[in-house]
Amino acid sequence: MEPGRRARELRTLLTEASHAYYVLDDPVLSDAEYDRRFRELQDLEAAHPEVATADSPTRKVGAPPRESFRQVKHTVPMLSLENAMTDAEFGEWHARAVEAAGGSIPEFVVEPKVDGTAVEVVYEDGLFTGGSTRGDGEVGEDITDNLRTIRGLPLRLRGSAPGRLELRGEVYYPLRAFAKMNEELAARGEKTFANPRNAAAGTLRQLDPGVTERRPLRIVIHGLGESKGLKAATHAGCLEQLAALGLPTCGRDLERGRSVEEIRAVHRRWMEARDGLEFEVDGIVVKVDDFRLREEMGFRTRSPRWAIAWKFPPREEVTRIVSMSVSVGRTGALTPVAELEPVKIGGVTVSRATLSNPGLVAKKGVRIGDWVTVRRAGDVIPEIVGAVTARRTGEEREFEMPAACPVCRAAVVQAEGEAVPRCPNASCPAQVKGTLLNFTHAMGIDGFGEKLVDQLVERGIATDIAALYALTADQLAGLDRMGDKSAQNLIEALRASRSTTLERLLGALGIRLVGGSTARDLARHFGDLRPIMDATPERLMQVPEVGERVAAEIHAWFANPSNRAMVERLLAAGMTWEAPRPAEGGRLQGLKFVFTGELVRMARREAETLVAELGGKASSSVSRQTSFVVAGPNAGSKLDKARQLGVRILTEDEFLAMVRS
Ligand code: IVH
Repeated sequence: MEPGRRARELRTLLTEASHAYYVLDDPVLSDAEYDRRFRELQDLEAAHPEVATADSPTRKVGAPPRESFRQVKHTVPMLSLENAMTDAEFGEWHARAVEAAGGSIPEFVVEPKVDGTAVEVVYEDGLFTGGSTRGDGEVGEDITDNLRTIRGLPLRLRGSAPGRLELRGEVYYPLRAFAKMNEELAARGEKTFANPRNAAAGTLRQLDPGVTERRPLRIVIHGLGESKGLKAATHAGCLEQLAALGLPTCGRDLERGRSVEEIRAVHRRWMEARDGLEFEVDGIVVKVDDFRLREEMGFRTRSPRWAIAWKFPPREEVTRIVSMSVSVGRTGALTPVAELEPVKIGGVTVSRATLSNPGLVAKKGVRIGDWVTVRRAGDVIPEIVGAVTARRTGEEREFEMPAACPVCRAAVVQAEGEAVPRCPNASCPAQVKGTLLNFTHAMGIDGFGEKLVDQLVERGIATDIAALYALTADQLAGLDRMGDKSAQNLIEALRASRSTTLERLLGALGIRLVGGSTARDLARHFGDLRPIMDATPERLMQVPEVGERVAAEIHAWFANPSNRAMVERLLAAGMTWEAPRPAEGGRLQGLKFVFTGELVRMARREAETLVAELGGKASSSVSRQTSFVVAGPNAGSKLDKARQLGVRILTEDEFLAMVRS
């Protein structure tokens, strides 16, 4: 084919594919196919420079590094938004907005406030011609070459584009990619970014666009600067037109409301959805929809009267590390814990935070006495993000991992290739407590909280799992905060737990790397406990999904005489189970499912059990081996990953139809 024609064809194909992937969230090409076509176009343009165009997708990569950024004056200043931090502040703003609107409540549109960095993007006659940072609002920096590399930002608009279009938007760093980049930076001993917002801003201000290109920034358009030729009467209408031009807007997330209550409901929904999103959202932006009304309402010095950012409670605060201690987990893993000057984060007082492993203390460069950024996301344990090194006084001390277990004084071992040091003593009280808590939880025995287990272990009443079944009501009733009735209930719960399933028991023993799904595979494959206890690693590896490491852990656990003796006592205490269901023959045989987002018709656990009963597997992470991802409302990164990998996606109803057919 004639090169010019082929280049045109490829440009159209690749541009459409990018739009489908990044803007519509509905891929039409596999990654591999995209890459192949992309390279074909690159080669073609290299061989025939005359066929290259300014809007070619190949222009999205690699411009030469620069020495500095040129300054650009914004035609229309980039203002900021007034913030409301509380219900009351939002209520006050709402009342003022109603007044400014002449007394009647205007219709508001509500968007997520994406926590990234503000940019302006300019199109002339449909062609991307440049863009800039917000700067001081009047003058920003020309970051055209970097913006060009952002996937999802078209280099040419579709359809008939207005003469000049200045767009306002937010560039953000997707969370999974952010975590991955930080890990890689840390592994190379380079400085990590404190949060995705800094990462987005830092990446956009890279002098070498090649670096920016390798980082998967995204953009969402949420407004206009100057526009010549775009006719819209409302914000929603404007976003619709922009989307039709092929731009990634926040229009799909738009909600409407008038009263404070209606908008509060939207605020609450976004706050609840926050942890499952692929990007950081730090609030909602409430805007008057009608452009004419906006004009009437006008501006304050730095912000419009027709919009406000209603922030979420912050998830990060800065506080000081008073001291460091070390906690010992169920598997003996030693984890450094920072004791903090108490600080309120998102309504909860935080006084301790973990650094997931001691390597991280070194990598994050955290010292005792440091001011640190602490982050609390949802219900997870608060985590130290990093030190605020500018606030160091020189009085800070390095933390050192102890050589002996802080609980039982056994010499700590650090296995080769493992990040975490461990206490090797299986009867270490910390390990026993962890094992008992894990067991009672996994067996569904209600009423065994941390305080109770602490007492059982510290008073030498329970030294292992089997000892639980020898407990008497009198023994329990003698413990702190324990009445006769609760003691009786615990004994009853223990008694009931003796009739169980093999997979549940196996999963509850606390063998490292043996979770629910491995336990199920083992139970199905061997059918009974004895053959598992006596299996060689080779036999264990015949179970699908059991690899060398898992087999070694299982074998070592059952080879340990005290574990074996404990299991014998458990059996003697009357543990019984039904024969496991055979794995063969189920309708979902060989299929792997991942559930993400909310399920409406059943609990996630029920859905997973259903899959298992029909011979399939439910897993928590999406990979190329996943057969189906079942996605409900508010699905997040797993859905993105499924799309990326081309894994088939089902709605909950489609899934139900499949299992019931
Ligand atoms: S509208 C007149 N909409 O928040 C200013 N801003 O605190 C109009 N932001 O500088 C801004 N998401 O960078 C608007 N959906 C959204 C937004 C949003 C994030 C950022 C934006 C702005 C800052 C104001």
